[in-house]
Amino acid sequence: MTAQASTPFVQIRRPERVPKQTIELQIDGHAVKVPEGTTILGASRSIGIEIPTLCYLETLRPVNVCRLCLVEVEGARVLVPSCSRAVEAGMVVRTGSDRVRHARKMVLELLASSVDLSTTPGMTDLLAEYDCKPERYGPPAPAAAAGARDAAVCGHHEPPDPDFAATVAQPVVVDNELYVRDYAKCVLCYKCVEACGVDHQNSFAIAVAGRGFDARISTELAVPLPGSACVYCGNCIAVCPTGALMAKREFDLRAEGAWKAEEQTSTDTICPYCGVGCTLTLHVQDNEIVKATSPLDNGITMGNLCIKGRFGWRFVQRKREAGSAEAGSAEAGSADAGSADAGSADAGSRTQ
Ligand code: SF4
Ligand code: SF4
Ligand code: FES
Repeated sequence: MTAQASTPFVQIRRPERVPKQTIELQIDGHAVKVPEGTTILGASRSIGIEIPTLCYLETLRPVNVCRLCLVEVEGARVLVPSCSRAVEAGMVVRTGSDRVRHARKMVLELLASSVDLSTTPGMTDLLAEYDCKPERYGPPAPAAAAGARDAAVCGHHEPPDPDFAATVAQPVVVDNELYVRDYAKCVLCYKCVEACGVDHQNSFAIAVAGRGFDARISTELAVPLPGSACVYCGNCIAVCPTGALMAKREFDLRAEGAWKAEEQTSTDTICPYCGVGCTLTLHVQDNEIVKATSPLDNGITMGNLCIKGRFGWRFVQRKREAGSAEAGSAEAGSADAGSADAGSADAGSRTQ
């Protein structure tokens, strides 16, 4: 008998799954049956009831900060966030009661009075649906000077000017060639922080600094991105619900009035740079790639990419611009094709 044959065989596998219980509850008068652990949001969506969300995303752990998804649960003292509250047997949920609509309207008005929501998809319709009047808080306060909000010290608050609605207006931060940070549009949903942190990238380049109205997303010591721990994966851009984080190409096209989202087509393909083979969705406008994303429901990427997949596609345009197949293939085949674009922001050395 060989030593190998005498080694006890250990089966390594996942533990048997205990079948989940089915939970029965009622949502807006409809009887619903869903697996144990489903959130109220998930149960509502399963029967076609939509609840607005801002800080929720299927690929991130819920952080419950925006409070837009609040619903009423019979017997509960306070409204509950449907994106994170798990269903319970016998629950009676109301997603559109007067109390819920009132709370949602207040959240929307406070956000719209202080944050630029002009590039938040669906927000115009939502503000109209809830008859929001953010202007009743007064005219928006003037924008802060560049860096002023980053310099705020915890516990040192200036009294607000009662003639104005406080805002987070401030200049756009453009400190690299790959993406911009327009924190005048930031609703502090934490999605970028979670995507950069334990949920996906584990780079921890950004966090929330400050308290109260001074709270803001910041790099360590508010250093410019090229000097931070950022690896330019752009996964924060992918999850940002308001356009506060935006690829530079999109930002530039919008500034020129040339961003035509409704005319864009998208095509799925595979990233050419490494063996991981991430799925890329290429967004094309006027026969030019203007953005690369990855599908949220892709089991490999979950919407994430690295710097090369997210930003290293301009060689395709360059190939066409050169008008020469030889020039193009030399560039496309070169190992630093991605860094020709991505690296120009002092980011090429940070590829993973
Ligand atoms: S920058 Fe975008 S993702 Fe990050 S907290 Fe602000 S709104 Fe959310
Ligand atoms: S996105 Fe990055 S990890 Fe994915 S295939 Fe491309 S180079 Fe590889
Ligand atoms: S979506 Fe539920 S709290 Fe933000």
